[in-house]
Parts: sequence; structure tokens; C-alpha cells
Amino acid sequence: MLKGIYPGSFDPVTFGHLDIIRRSSALVDELIVGVLNNNAKSPLFSVEERVRMLKEVTKNMPKVRIVPFEGLLVEFARETGAGMIIRGLRAITDFEYELQMAQTNHKLEAGIETVFLTTGLEYSYLSSTTVKEVAAFGGDISQFVPKTVIGKMQEKMNKKESVDNEQPH
Ligand code: PNS
Repeated sequence: MLKGIYPGSFDPVTFGHLDIIRRSSALVDELIVGVLNNNAKSPLFSVEERVRMLKEVTKNMPKVRIVPFEGLLVEFARETGAGMIIRGLRAITDFEYELQMAQTNHKLEAGIETVFLTTGLEYSYLSSTTVKEVAAFGGDISQFVPKTVIGKMQEKMNKKESVDNEQPH
């Protein structure tokens, strides 16, 4: 049984991530979407929220399992019995970081290969960071993220606004 891991922060999941999830799940028997639990990155959404949103948007994909993880990715791959790490490459700017990560992971665990899928051209500009920025300024994010995420983003932004308004100026 061929198991792959698609790891990431998914803060929040975008159509670009979903494109990679859909295409990579066709290459394996089981795809584990590993959701990084790392508060040092100060995510907008808690790991539980990110897992919940991913579960919702992949509920019709029987091969896909959403699992949070902490610590080293290769340890997580070993624990889950996955032999392949899948990452999406959007543009040349991704390459340096991705290469460094893939080579580090290969040094740490030679039995685990990283496989890159090129992100669909229509999503090559898209990132969770830009989605958060557009949403923070009240822009329309419906072309970037699934409906479930739009609702959650609005809740977050409203909460943030009311906290900001409570702060003494
Ligand atoms: O969506 P992201 O933030 O680009 O995903 C990055 C991720 C989660 C793949 C990466 O930060 C990671 O694997 N973190 C776990 C720690 C680890 O194993 N680091 C060593 C590889 S350099």
C-alpha cells in the first residue's frame, strides 16, 4: 500500500492546496494531509480549526486522511508508514526553500522521497498569506478559498476587529 504525506501549515487551506490534494491522491493508495501544529509560526487558525476545515473540504475524497503533527516531518512519515512526501511547486521562488527541505529530509531519512507536483497555473500566484492579507482589508476571497473557509475567515476577522476596538487607543 503506497502512502503519501502532503504536509503544510494550511492557514487556511486554499484552492491551490486542494488542487495538489486532488491530483496527488490519484497517485497513492492513501494520502495523509499532515497539518503542522507549530505555535511559533503564530497561525491565524488553531490546528484544530485548520484540521476541521480540511476535513470538511475533503469529505468526498475517500483516500484522504487529515492528521495534525508536531516535530519533524520525517518522524511523522515514519510513524504513519508513508514513503513519500508530496509538495507543490508554484514558481521558481518556491524552489530554493523546497529543495533545501527535501534534501534535509532525505539526509534525515533516506527511505523517504519527496515528490513535487507543479501547482495548476491558475493557482500559481496563490498563497495562504495573500489570502489572509486580502481578507484583512475586506477584499473578496471567493476565488481563492472554498466556501467553508470564507465563513471561518469572516468570523476570525470580526473577532479580531472587536478585540482591536476594545484596546485603548
Ligand atoms: O505550508 P508550509 O508552511 O510551507 O509547510 C512547511 C512544512 C510544514 C512542510 C515544514 O515547515 C515542515 O516540514 N515542518 C516540520 C519540521 C521539519 O521537519 N523540519 C525539517 C525540514 S527542513
